Amino acid sequence: MPAAMTKRDFLRAIGSAAGVAATYHTMSSLGMLGPQTVHADALDLPPGSGHGTRVVILGAGISGMAAAYELSKAGYTCTILEATERAGGRNFTARGGDVVREIDSRQWVDFDREDHLYANMGPARIPYHHRLILGYCKEFGVELEVFMNDNRAALFHNADRFGGEAVEGRRVTTDLRGYISELLAKAVNRNALDEDLSADDKERVLDMLVGYGDLNPDYLYTGSNRGGYRGDRVSAGLERGEPNDPLDFSELLRSEFWEYKLHFGYFLNQNPTLFQPVGGMDAIAKAFETRVQRLIQYQSPVLEIRKTTAGANVVYRDLRRGTTESIDADYLICTIPAPVLTDIPNNFDPSVRSAIASVAFVPAVKIGFQARRRFWEDDLAIYGGISWTDQDITQIWYPATGYHRAKGVIMGAYIWEDRPGQGERFANMTPPERLRAAISEGENIHPGYAQEIESGVSRVWPKVPFQKGGWPESYQPPPELLAPDGAVYFAGDQITALPGWQEGAVLAAHTVANAIHQRSATT
Ligand code: ALA
Repeated sequence: MPAAMTKRDFLRAIGSAAGVAATYHTMSSLGMLGPQTVHADALDLPPGSGHGTRVVILGAGISGMAAAYELSKAGYTCTILEATERAGGRNFTARGGDVVREIDSRQWVDFDREDHLYANMGPARIPYHHRLILGYCKEFGVELEVFMNDNRAALFHNADRFGGEAVEGRRVTTDLRGYISELLAKAVNRNALDEDLSADDKERVLDMLVGYGDLNPDYLYTGSNRGGYRGDRVSAGLERGEPNDPLDFSELLRSEFWEYKLHFGYFLNQNPTLFQPVGGMDAIAKAFETRVQRLIQYQSPVLEIRKTTAGANVVYRDLRRGTTESIDADYLICTIPAPVLTDIPNNFDPSVRSAIASVAFVPAVKIGFQARRRFWEDDLAIYGGISWTDQDITQIWYPATGYHRAKGVIMGAYIWEDRPGQGERFANMTPPERLRAAISEGENIHPGYAQEIESGVSRVWPKVPFQKGGWPESYQPPPELLAPDGAVYFAGDQITALPGWQEGAVLAAHTVANAIHQRSATT
């Protein structure tokens, strides 16, 4: 997007091929377009079928650990080389006392040590139809609770609209429905849709619009108590009160809340019901880790990957011993994110090397804040959900846990490049600068915000060692990564049409495990 182009121009330009591609990528990253069809067979690894075949797995993230868990159960001899001292990859939950490292900074997390005071800095929601990851939660006994995207009490904010004041979702949704219903009713009553609707259906549509938009008997929208009552009252009291005046339609249209924010929860991967593990998303990583820990060699960054006549060879640094080691494998499963993998010397096919180089990752940023009191609950009756803004922070997430406790951790920014350059802006700041910038933007949504925040932590994914990004921008992985290169199989969410989802990570693991099993059974 040219620098001089506003976001509005940009979205208008979606008629052009470049605009479509850019918007499509952004939207698909958040699962807004729904999963593309992925034809994955169910896992089929008969017990004992591995016969000790040596599989080396690069990366102890969700994909690598799922592959190791399943293949080792089936009798394969698995080794996981993990570059860092922890398992989980992008599945990372920050808590008080943690040290958060990036390539040029370290942050000490200063949250209080209570079970609900954590920030999921990587994956943070699991849709109900992600059956593979939910299946592991069930198998491993990972307790789940409901996570919300949508909350009618949460806020919509646009610096240039409604005097820069944030507006409650219940008003925005109710009034837009009302106005659209009124317009459609007018079109029906002016016989503009006679070619499309029979006389009976016209009546049905009008009836439907009265209910859908809360129109009056003249098919006009004059406001609705669905959006709450005047005087900042939400609930009726002894008397019902007067509904809020409807928001100005023209201002609503200019607010651009409707671009995608208002229907975010309608995207298939963002549909309710969504879940989160109780106590932090890393409960899933830990559940895998306890089952495959004996297979993981921590602090072992990969230096070189070679296909060999017999399989594959990996040279790695053993940071604990200070030695350089080499390991042979019959099969190699590489879950290393493409932006990291592209810099590791290898003898892959040139087409595979250029495919790896072509996978761009979203420069995602998250900032978690501990608040001294749950002002969103106390003052605004916001229990979970997301407030949206056109500022760089994009969103504020309210915790779907710990209701009515003294303190809470909110996600004070979740940036995934709604507007190009947002992630980079935060990436170029020091950690304290990021917190200050996010607090100052949050202040425009919640006046008095700065006084409520006690401490914060940020994760700028492009700066995270051995990750270098949030998730693949494109919903469509390069075909070269879907097939093995010799004995080297690529995995991770990056080889699926579910980028940025743990479901994609598991799907990749199962697909590759099946492929290795089928190949080793026939050779
Ligand atoms: N799956 C990630 C999200 O929902 C990208 O935000």
